[in-house]
Amino acid sequence: MQGYKLNRILICYVTKKEGEGEDMRTDEAIRTRRAVKHYDPNHSMTLEEVNELLSLAILSPTAFNIQNWRFVVVTDTELRKQIREVAWDQAQVTDASLFIVLCADMKSWEKQPNRYWVNAPKEVQEFMLPAIDNYYRGKEEVQRDEAMRSCGITAQTLMLAAKSMGYDSCPMDGFDFEKVAELINLPADHVVAMFVAIGKGTKEAWPRPGQLDLDEVTIKNRFA
Ligand SMILES: Cc1cc2nc3c(=O)[nH]c(=O)nc-3n(C[C@H](O)[C@H](O)[C@H](O)COP(=O)(O)O)c2cc1C
Repeated sequence: MQGYKLNRILICYVTKKEGEGEDMRTDEAIRTRRAVKHYDPNHSMTLEEVNELLSLAILSPTAFNIQNWRFVVVTDTELRKQIREVAWDQAQVTDASLFIVLCADMKSWEKQPNRYWVNAPKEVQEFMLPAIDNYYRGKEEVQRDEAMRSCGITAQTLMLAAKSMGYDSCPMDGFDFEKVAELINLPADHVVAMFVAIGKGTKEAWPRPGQLDLDEVTIKNRFA
């Protein structure tokens, strides 16, 4: 046990020395981010850290700048337990320092869209606002697809930002979406995309279990 603890301290020290912290390179954050399943339940993040993470997350790109993600930050211990019950009893839900139910407002495109372009030149606004309406109105599937695209991108922003701040993370969709929606009072025009758990990992992820070759996933120009 003593040896294990010492090992952890050394690992943390070495990792930090190698660049974990504010100045971690993006490629290093990408390589070292893993889906970590076990977290120190006694660790808490400061409000500043949470604010920093979320402030970075909202710089993620969205189509037409509609910023359709909504970050439900679950701090209520009882609610976390209830969510864990409908999430295959996964420990990340209760033990991570920061637990986010990543949702999207599928109607953000029609809710005062001028907000998204308020600082742009008038000609740009005049072009964008009708274009947004035309792109989404009456197209339920497009609205939902956009929600998932935006949430996927911001989830990765959150996880890489967390890594650069010295935290681990886990993206999650192993849960009952309808029950989670009920538990968080999800509005009818919103959708749950996934969870992102962030905190101090206590167990390393297992080695990458099966990475496909780049050749297998890269298509030149068109599928055969
Ligand atoms: C959308 C999504 C949902 C996932 N759901 C879960 C989950 O519910 N529980 C879990 O432990 N891991 C979950 N994972 C983590 C994946 O299993 C993991 O990312 C994958 O095995 C690759 O490992 P790595 O992220 O460590 O490279 C999820 C990942 C993604 C992207």
